[in-house]
Amino acid sequence: MAVSSNISFSLLGFFLCFMAIIPSLLAHIAEYDDYWRERELQAKENLDKAYNPRPEEVANHYNEHAARIMMGLNSTRRGMRAKAKRGPCHATNPIDHCWRCNRNWEKNRKRLAACSLGFGRGTTGGKHGEFYVVTDPSDNILDPKPGTLRHAVIQKRPLWITFARPMMIRLEQELIITTDNKTIDGRGGRVHIAYGAGITIQYTTNIIIHNLHIHDILPGKGGMIRDSEDHYGLRTESDGDGISIFGATYVWLDHLSMYRCSDGIIDAIQGSTAITISNCHFTDHSDVMLFGANDATVLDNKMQITVALNIFGRGLVQRMPRCRFGFIHVVNNDYTHWLMYAIGGSSHPTIVSQGNRYKATFEKLTKEVTVRISAQQSVWKNWNWISEGDLFLNDAFFISSGDVKYIKKFHGEIWMPYRPGRLVPLLTVYSGALGCKVGKPC
Ligand SMILES: *[C@@H]1O[C@H](CO)[C@@H](O)[C@H](O)[C@H]1NC(C)=O
Ligand SMILES: *[C@@H]1O[C@H](CO)[C@@H](O)[C@H](O)[C@H]1NC(C)=O
Repeated sequence: MAVSSNISFSLLGFFLCFMAIIPSLLAHIAEYDDYWRERELQAKENLDKAYNPRPEEVANHYNEHAARIMMGLNSTRRGMRAKAKRGPCHATNPIDHCWRCNRNWEKNRKRLAACSLGFGRGTTGGKHGEFYVVTDPSDNILDPKPGTLRHAVIQKRPLWITFARPMMIRLEQELIITTDNKTIDGRGGRVHIAYGAGITIQYTTNIIIHNLHIHDILPGKGGMIRDSEDHYGLRTESDGDGISIFGATYVWLDHLSMYRCSDGIIDAIQGSTAITISNCHFTDHSDVMLFGANDATVLDNKMQITVALNIFGRGLVQRMPRCRFGFIHVVNNDYTHWLMYAIGGSSHPTIVSQGNRYKATFEKLTKEVTVRISAQQSVWKNWNWISEGDLFLNDAFFISSGDVKYIKKFHGEIWMPYRPGRLVPLLTVYSGALGCKVGKPC
């Protein structure tokens, strides 16, 4: 579709100039010591290993899987939705189908490690580690007490971290996850991380964060923060992101409810890849997701992220996501409305949008799903931004660009149709943190 709407574009451009914030490249590490230099080198190696030179295979795998699972679920959307809400457990999407209806989920928590799809497929978190039960919601940044979340994430061995009871954790400063192989599993715990700093996943690999409420995140002042059993260091202020993924690979964020963070809800920057963000529920926020922080970080060419099965809900403004470089697969999400735009980018990212439901507001100037930032049409016309099987409501429209034949590459032998946009309300009906009870399906 070659619609051009110059008025809305320049208006958006005007806002965007003022709203762009570039996170500092040293990621709030005030003293870049040998420990961080080594973590950074390791992270670059991880990036090369995790980068998939044939990303279309990953998209195919997701779609094939989704189609196979959904075949069994066949009736009208309303009927399905009603059925899903009451009565016996119906996992309505391929990721949930992998674990959610097992009433013994509590005894089989590590089953989750087999369930990620998309670019984050293969993220196993603490699968090969012991369980660590968080019993204490308090936080001490330099000398974390055993039984606290910070004490759990600084351990160097793989761990599957759970919570003994419902709790509200107010982080004094960012929670820095820089040790590999961790799962933070909030199922059964009703865990809120709120009214303090957010989570930073930095120069690490293989991290699952599951079933948490993360909201009202504030900037942290910085200071001496412990990030490993045998390392602590001086950090500068944190921005107030909900989750910041910095130079990290194999990260899977699933079933999170996130709102009101002072900066981004989720950032993935500085050579992060192999990431899936799924089944999350986002509301009340301006800058939702930033993938790639600036147009100079060419490392982000290897960024590959799947955004699947999320609800972008009330009160969201822009960046769902905003991309630079990289390959972003946006599939089967529910965009219930957006105040500026849904999907944007600069520096020629590849964006494949499939089977989403895009519902615009009644505001005339913001019907467009997409926005290209700081590029002339003569330049962005070559960026591959492709929409397939999306459902557009209230006159929402997606401006495609690039090589229309590009999408044909995806029709390999294993190609099966992704789920059409009209099924999205069913696919996402359980998004956000789940209230799982022991002995019952989640
Ligand atoms: C699904 O339902 C439709 C319409 O009710 C029907 O035509 C189709 O054969 C059904 N498919 C399967 C696999 O049962
Ligand atoms: C993390 O897990 C991976 C894959 O299971 C394993 O190869 C690696 O050795 C683990 N790292 C640590 C520090 O245990």
